[in-house]
Amino acid sequence: MTKFRTLDDLGDLTGKVALVRVDLNLPMQDGAVTDDTRVRASAPTILELAAKGAKVLLLAHFGRPKGERVSTMSVSMTLDAVQAVLGKEVMFVPEIAGPVVEQAVGILRPGDIAMLENTRFWKGEEKNDPELAKAIAANGDIYVNDAFSAAHRAHASTEGLAHLLPAYAGRSMEAELKALEAALGNPVRPVAAVVGGAKVSSKLDVLTHLVTQVDHLIIGGGMANTFLAARGVNVGKSLCEHDLAATAEAILDAADGASCTVHLPYDVVVSKEFAANPPSLRTCNVHEVAADEMILDLGPLAVEALADVLKTCRTLVWNGPLGAFETQPFDAATVALARSAAALTKEGALTSVAGGGDTVAALNHAGVADDFTYISTAGGAFLEWMEGKELPGVKALEQA
Ligand code: 3PG
Repeated sequence: MTKFRTLDDLGDLTGKVALVRVDLNLPMQDGAVTDDTRVRASAPTILELAAKGAKVLLLAHFGRPKGERVSTMSVSMTLDAVQAVLGKEVMFVPEIAGPVVEQAVGILRPGDIAMLENTRFWKGEEKNDPELAKAIAANGDIYVNDAFSAAHRAHASTEGLAHLLPAYAGRSMEAELKALEAALGNPVRPVAAVVGGAKVSSKLDVLTHLVTQVDHLIIGGGMANTFLAARGVNVGKSLCEHDLAATAEAILDAADGASCTVHLPYDVVVSKEFAANPPSLRTCNVHEVAADEMILDLGPLAVEALADVLKTCRTLVWNGPLGAFETQPFDAATVALARSAAALTKEGALTSVAGGGDTVAALNHAGVADDFTYISTAGGAFLEWMEGKELPGVKALEQA
């Protein structure tokens, strides 16, 4: 298990300044936050530090302003949502270093919280510039990283700071790392992975790594079509990366060599057009897809067989939907298999960990997000972890 310091290693912090890296890269619509999951994930860390008497300075990025001050990307856009979740007033400071932050620290009382501006307004953030990191660190006594979802970035606020101040994993970071360790680091076998989503090209490294780690690899979504086509199946006008046939074959060969069973659908839901409840909707064997049809979901027989596979497994890691789940009825396979996984988890038969991109939305849609053992708040970081990569933000905590 990864070794890093946590909040358990901290005593009274009265008057000390805790620089806390959180992820406030939140989805917004018409100026309002539409999903505050990441704030809720870090709230225990922020409140625990405040309760220990620290002056808490939140550090976060918002969007990709590329080293410029872009007013629509001020992290203050998330201030209302953060205050609502914390149930406390949060002071906004339009800088991340220097005298303005120093003054703010002077005004804050022990237990108060401030939010510093978008770290990516400064060019040194993404360059992991030691000078910027030093300037930020100058106003803090300890550094807490609670942003697993940004840990794949080696930036000043995610990596550099960990080398300059006593560094600790926040509660959310700690929970993420424990769950991921249980899912792939040191899992109870057999292990199944569900990988869905539109394109093989976006998850090549994930698939290549997983075949060496898991006992069952369940491939769904548009990317299954590429594998089917590589196996000589006519997928009609389905989304398919025909140019990746050789790559798909190589992944299947690697799976064979590693005794990983790859599960591809043998019945599918097809339609001539991509629309909700289209008139041409039908379910067929995967070998019966017509030239003018497209595969939009796994069929019920495939789902039943996959649910049986999950019954034989002890650990599951899930990334990506099995079909075009945002459009009815192509959510059926994702919903059904997610419910099977949730039921097995509830019985105590399965440890289930999910994350990345559309996955959380798909599991929320299936109404099972609370029943999985752990749902990661991360997108890109979760994928890089599934690729077997070392995440710089995590490594820096281990070294600290
Ligand atoms: C995310 O939203 O996945 C993280 O905050 C990382 O954002 P980034 O992809 O812009 O680095």
